[in-house]
Amino acid sequence: MKTFSELKLIEPIEQSLREQNYETPTPIQAQTIPFALEGKDILGCAQTGTGKTAAFSLPLLDYLGGETVKAKRGKPQGLILAPTRELAIQIADSLKVYGKHLKLKTTLIFGGVNQNNQVREMNRGAHIVVATPGRLIDLMNQGHVNLSELEIFILDEADRMLDMGFLPDLKRIIRELPNNRQSMFFSATMAPKIVELANELLYEPISVNVAPKETTVKNIKQELMYCDRGDKPGMLLEIVERDEVESVIVFTRTKRGANVVARRLEQAGVGAAIIHGGKSQNARQRALAAFRKGQVRVMVATDVAARGIDIDNVTHVVNYDLPNEAEAYVHRIGRTGRAGATGTAISFCAGDELDYLWDIEKLIGNEIPRDPDSVEPEYMPPKKPGGGRRGGGGNRGGGGGGGMRRQGSGGGGGGSKNSRSSSSKRRGGSGSAKASGSGGGRSGARTKTTGGGGKPKSKRPGKNARNRVKSAS
Ligand SMILES: Nc1ncnc2c1ncn2[C@@H]1O[C@H](COP(=O)(O)OP(=O)(O)OP(=O)(O)O)[C@@H](O)[C@H]1O
Ligand SMILES: [Mg+2]
Repeated sequence: MKTFSELKLIEPIEQSLREQNYETPTPIQAQTIPFALEGKDILGCAQTGTGKTAAFSLPLLDYLGGETVKAKRGKPQGLILAPTRELAIQIADSLKVYGKHLKLKTTLIFGGVNQNNQVREMNRGAHIVVATPGRLIDLMNQGHVNLSELEIFILDEADRMLDMGFLPDLKRIIRELPNNRQSMFFSATMAPKIVELANELLYEPISVNVAPKETTVKNIKQELMYCDRGDKPGMLLEIVERDEVESVIVFTRTKRGANVVARRLEQAGVGAAIIHGGKSQNARQRALAAFRKGQVRVMVATDVAARGIDIDNVTHVVNYDLPNEAEAYVHRIGRTGRAGATGTAISFCAGDELDYLWDIEKLIGNEIPRDPDSVEPEYMPPKKPGGGRRGGGGNRGGGGGGGMRRQGSGGGGGGSKNSRSSSSKRRGGSGSAKASGSGGGRSGARTKTTGGGGKPKSKRPGKNARNRVKSAS
């Protein structure tokens, strides 16, 4: 796939892509968009900063924008869920850019702000809703959002959305979706367990894993600095003051830690924006905006900013604390080195973080290059295991005791193979005989899936009813 025109997207979208100077589809775009346009379910895994947003947004816009119907009060046709408010906002912004020449209405639904505007917008009608799960459920419960006519369901950061923290909310939402929807799940990390779960929610998905062995992006230079806890403030200051560090995100494990680090930087004369879950939504957005615009060149963040956030010219990421969830490392460092740019990720590791380090290296299948001047500290068990809303813990568990050994590396975190499980084509394929016919109309045929978001044991009826203008011509 060399050009976007080969994807045969509708002209208004092609026009926006030209305006954005997008010339060639990235691999994840080239490998998923053609199938997504056919209405197939997609499980897409590709490294950070490689254009997954467009991979799901373009087919969505193409479908809804091709023959736009009037948006119905409270009943969106497309839904995108994301784990954080800032990411939801950013996705909606991307839809605006890619859909600039279309007449589609997108509404954002997220918590931490008054709901009145969101309710008003839903009442006026929206084709697409971009949401975080909690507030969406609130509005569903209040009768402002009804998902019974949803046609396309998208999970960004799908592994996060399917982990213990979000799964109950997600099941509640999925219960309301018509069975004959199209679903697309995307992330840069996809643990095998999550792939299994995703596959239960998808119908004969096309599974694409770009570069399954390389979870992290090649052009991010990674470095690990061993240290004692007390050394970290001085080390950070030294890094932040280097000439080449133009713009840096510093990740801490806790909100309190973020506040302390930012305060120390301020005391040293380095202005820093702070973003974490303890801040008001307004403060979070202000901080992110200031950093985006380059008004401050340091942003101190918890993992609330680890996933999906796309900011130009972040030259460095510093893991002031290593994350206690290995996937977070991949996402955090992926805030730099995006869209082919280069970047540097420096991680501090004290004795009580060695367990986390081993988990990370197991996931990425590589040893992070050590700063030659630093000496491995004495092992200490992690102080506060878990934390945050992550229940399952996944691969953590053990690790305790004296285990100084490196946990055999190798297991590239990727998950599913680069396999196309497309043998069964929905369109005209053997299984698709009972296509439900109408794309629109109130689907009385909505059979609620058993067990709330559980396994749709009875397969969803084929939905090749989506009369694509394009494919007909
Ligand atoms: N085909 C393309 N050509 C040029 N730039 C692109 C293309 N597709 C996406 N981009 C740009 O690449 C950057 C990263 O894209 P995006 O945020 O979608 O990455 P991602 O894969 O979702 O990453 P993450 O896993 O961190 O969420 C964006 O700034 C986007 O505008
Ligand atoms: Mg993304």
